[in-house]
Amino acid sequence: MSQEQTPLFSGLVAHAKKNPIQFHIPGHKKGAGMDTEFRQFIGDNALSIDLINIGPLDDLHQPKGIIKQAQDLAAEAFGADRTFFSVQGTSGAIIAMIMAVCGPDDKIIVPRNVHKSIMSAIVFSGAIPVFIHPEIDKDLGISHGITTDSVERALTQHPDAKAVLVINPTYFGISADLKKIVEIAHSHHVPVLVDEAHGVHIHFHDQLPLSAMQAGADMAATSVHKLGGSMTQSSILNVREGLVSAKHVQSILSMLTTTSTSYLLLASLDVARKQLATKGKELIDKTIRLSQSIRKRINEIDHIHCVGEEILGSKATFDYDPTKLIISVKNLGLSGYEVEKWLREKHNIEVELSDLYNILCIISLGDTDAEGDLLVNALKELASECEHRVGQIKPLEVLLPEIPVLALTPRDAFYAETEVVPIEESEGRIIAEFIMVYPPGIPIFIPGEIITKENLHYIRENLEAGLPVQGPEDDEIKTIRVIKEYKAIQ
Ligand SMILES: Cc1ncc(COP(=O)(O)O)c(C=O)c1O
Repeated sequence: MSQEQTPLFSGLVAHAKKNPIQFHIPGHKKGAGMDTEFRQFIGDNALSIDLINIGPLDDLHQPKGIIKQAQDLAAEAFGADRTFFSVQGTSGAIIAMIMAVCGPDDKIIVPRNVHKSIMSAIVFSGAIPVFIHPEIDKDLGISHGITTDSVERALTQHPDAKAVLVINPTYFGISADLKKIVEIAHSHHVPVLVDEAHGVHIHFHDQLPLSAMQAGADMAATSVHKLGGSMTQSSILNVREGLVSAKHVQSILSMLTTTSTSYLLLASLDVARKQLATKGKELIDKTIRLSQSIRKRINEIDHIHCVGEEILGSKATFDYDPTKLIISVKNLGLSGYEVEKWLREKHNIEVELSDLYNILCIISLGDTDAEGDLLVNALKELASECEHRVGQIKPLEVLLPEIPVLALTPRDAFYAETEVVPIEESEGRIIAEFIMVYPPGIPIFIPGEIITKENLHYIRENLEAGLPVQGPEDDEIKTIRVIKEYKAIQ
């Protein structure tokens, strides 16, 4: 088969055109049994391929027909031995990837700034995380990737580790020297698992960081939906055979996946793969040019800085993806969240994320000069609105708390006997839940860590800035669940 073909999408369309009488789910029966307003809005075409795993349409759990053909084409396009489609996002693929190599009490080497799905997988599998400190960028207030030296040290201290997990690239588009990390891990016979949620496109352009498969990694969970043109929630899991078994990965993935897989999502993966494989280079060329031109124009605005290749050169900033615009706004005397809100209210612009100091804008295959002009002009207006006060702004001290000490494994803490205490009385206790700001979804606390004053202060700062702090059962975060302590009886 050729990369121009879309066996899954074309198979679905051909099936729908036959207009079969459907005595099977989904019960909306091509939209006929559905709320009319929604049906008209979504359209009959989409509803006609919202189908299920009947014989001619194959089954994601045991693919032998059109899904297998689509997955095989994806494997060829991504340079993998096997590619599995995920209808549960990269979160689902990450959990399967980790559970495929780690069981209870197995060690996994991970950077501490990982997405919550990695921590969930650690709780589910019972694995013991060996944390690596990511490199902290004090100027931007963000964390980058891990260094080759720290991976080497971690593997020397923990030669029994079952895997090394790397985020490549990070949410902000920064990459570590993944090829070297893979060489180091493989010299210890340890597989490398990559969280490639933000890097589906990098495989298709040589001006972008190396993809997981290009760097020789063993598995990569990749959000096609984020930057590759498929529908939200559709991702892939790429596997290189050798240190991991694709058959085992498939069975774990199947255990974790709904039996009612969305064919709309699956078909969108098939067509996204075709577009990336056949036109990716040309489309990404255009995207890189557009983002560089926006970056340059943003950097002509006073007091706003859009990060570029000057960020490279540290051990954790080996390469970067220029299509991510990290825009530092701290010199305007505003938080990233305030700028996010201002852009929404004044210009109907939505950014990817904001934090205390930055906003992140993503330029993708779907953008044109027109969107770029709107962003640049809005930021110019904002900078001139702030002009009168920038002279009075004191240099901001970027706040990034220490990584807390892990006293219990996340799973032991998660399942331990717990109690709820007021947050202001929680310092020194062991937390039993996650707390994170989403996006980006990187935990401030994970179950098992000792609560510190600095981290409580950091949570307060984020809450006061209006950022979405999530995780605890108490969504107002007035109380927090901690491991129960028993005092000696008097
Ligand atoms: C670094 C990272 N990994 C994994 C994920 C999970 O991806 P998905 O939303 O496709 O489940 C995200 C999502 O934001 C992420 O930022």
